[in-house]
Amino acid sequence: MCGIVGYVGFRAARVVLFNALKRMEYRGYDSVGMAVLKDDVIQLSKRRGYVDSLHVDFEGTVGIAHTRWATHGKPDDRNAHPFTDCRGDFAIVHNGIIENYSALRKMLAGAGHEFVSDTDSEVIAHLLEEHYDGDFKDAFFKMVSELRGSFAIVAVHRGERRIMGAKNESPLVVGIGDHENFVASDIPAFLDYTNRVISLSDGEICEITEDRVKVYDFDGHPVAKKVQFIDWSVEDAERGGFEHFMLKEIYEQPRALEETLHNLQSREVKLPGRTEKISFVACGTSYHASLFGKYMVERYLGIPAETHYGSEYRYRDKVRENPLVVLITQSGETADTLASARIARRRNFRTIAITNVLGSSITNYVDAVFFTSAGPEIGVAATKTFTTQMIALHYLILETALAWRRISRTVYDRSMAALRDVPHMVDRVLEIDDRIMGLAQKLAKKHDMYYIARGMSYPVALEGALKMKEISYLHAEAYPAGELKHGPLALIDEDVPVIAVVLKDKTYEKMLSNLREVSARGAYVIAISTEEEVGDYADSLLILPESIPETGVYPATVLLQLLAYHTARVLGREIDKPKNLAKSVTVE
Ligand code: M6R
Repeated sequence: MCGIVGYVGFRAARVVLFNALKRMEYRGYDSVGMAVLKDDVIQLSKRRGYVDSLHVDFEGTVGIAHTRWATHGKPDDRNAHPFTDCRGDFAIVHNGIIENYSALRKMLAGAGHEFVSDTDSEVIAHLLEEHYDGDFKDAFFKMVSELRGSFAIVAVHRGERRIMGAKNESPLVVGIGDHENFVASDIPAFLDYTNRVISLSDGEICEITEDRVKVYDFDGHPVAKKVQFIDWSVEDAERGGFEHFMLKEIYEQPRALEETLHNLQSREVKLPGRTEKISFVACGTSYHASLFGKYMVERYLGIPAETHYGSEYRYRDKVRENPLVVLITQSGETADTLASARIARRRNFRTIAITNVLGSSITNYVDAVFFTSAGPEIGVAATKTFTTQMIALHYLILETALAWRRISRTVYDRSMAALRDVPHMVDRVLEIDDRIMGLAQKLAKKHDMYYIARGMSYPVALEGALKMKEISYLHAEAYPAGELKHGPLALIDEDVPVIAVVLKDKTYEKMLSNLREVSARGAYVIAISTEEEVGDYADSLLILPESIPETGVYPATVLLQLLAYHTARVLGREIDKPKNLAKSVTVE
């Protein structure tokens, strides 16, 4: 997620902007850049790398800056922001996605504009140049009226002590100082200088000088805004008021799921037609997503699919096969997954990656890449990157099933409609957070617990148990419910709670019997289900929004994330940085 900032005032802009960029580092980024106005000149510096690598001695008290999280175009110096127009009169920074950028780029190139990057953002600078007729503000409004998509934009014009900003579906806030003003993606960027804030709404434009802030709607009508006083510390503000990044990221899931679907829909997404077998390779949480993918492949494509841990696959003996290898890794940097990609290539298998990070190493090792759009994940425990992996797989498999004529158009339409409803279902689950806190109090007193499920819900149980052990340090184990009687049932008693995911699929009745089995051994049973009747078989029932089983897995996953989170919180654990674990495991 890019971070943008603008400053106009009396201080050295380079210092204010540098501090703001440091404050926004937590958002995650791959490139950095700054533009500062000196008299009639825009001084510009940008590069791939970290904020500390940006050494500038620009003079001037007006400027803009950016940290880039690549979406269009790989992370390199050329694609870093700010961008200028052909003449270097305007500089802009942007966060979001300009959906109609390729049409705009074609139109602008036709009018003689020269582009230097692969980004969607660069069209903004050229649109300003195209519309400029002696009035920066007027050109800015005209430019915004041509954009489709999500954007937060900040722009400056050479020779003017004025910043223009626009917001639509990407964050932008204004900071009010004394003879200085700020605009940024989020409050921590300027909280060292002021705690007076105006939050812009979608469809608003701001015009900022050192002594004045004016807000308009996109049609140019003035909008009266309230100034809020912020009493958070900088650290609180980075987490958007949430106690932990993990919780913030759990709550970001409706948006992340929606964006992932939206971005996948903007290109042709399907598996190659000659595929006869799929081998998924991944580690940790991504492995659980791959297991979900296996169930989906077998159900909708009717071809065999197998899952492998990266650490096993890389040492696997050669067998007679010619699978499509699908590697799943949110970071794109996990050593075992990268090594597996190299092995798959060496064996001449076709390879596809699903990752959350554009330009990450895995993208260099595979034939094709599909991206999730979860935004950066700071908490070590994967949350939004998992559900977005699931939805990306889900979408990819449904598209392929239609293309391969494995499902009818009616089934496809019904399944897609259900998939599009997933973000809303997740939203509704977040509303019962309070109930989950109560159950977490109970679990925090235990040392061991079991998670059970069957079929497509089984990966959800595995992921729920992984979340629990990773951040609460309690022993949690997931089992296919039908396997309990082959061993682990011996461990079940009143000290070992059982958490069950019970969706109304072909294993539903069997799951009810499994609940009876564990209840009879004294286990406290927490069931997660769409069906009220399951309450008769459990001590506590967390009810899911009505859904088909394939989409019920999403809200069920989020409930289990919250259950782990609150249990760890009761126990006072270091939730965002659990002991012994790293966010990205880049060594074997
Ligand atoms: O970046 P990756 O998806 O390849 O990471 C794989 C695992 O290291 C990761 O999912 C890990 O299991 C998570 N921290 C679990 O929450």
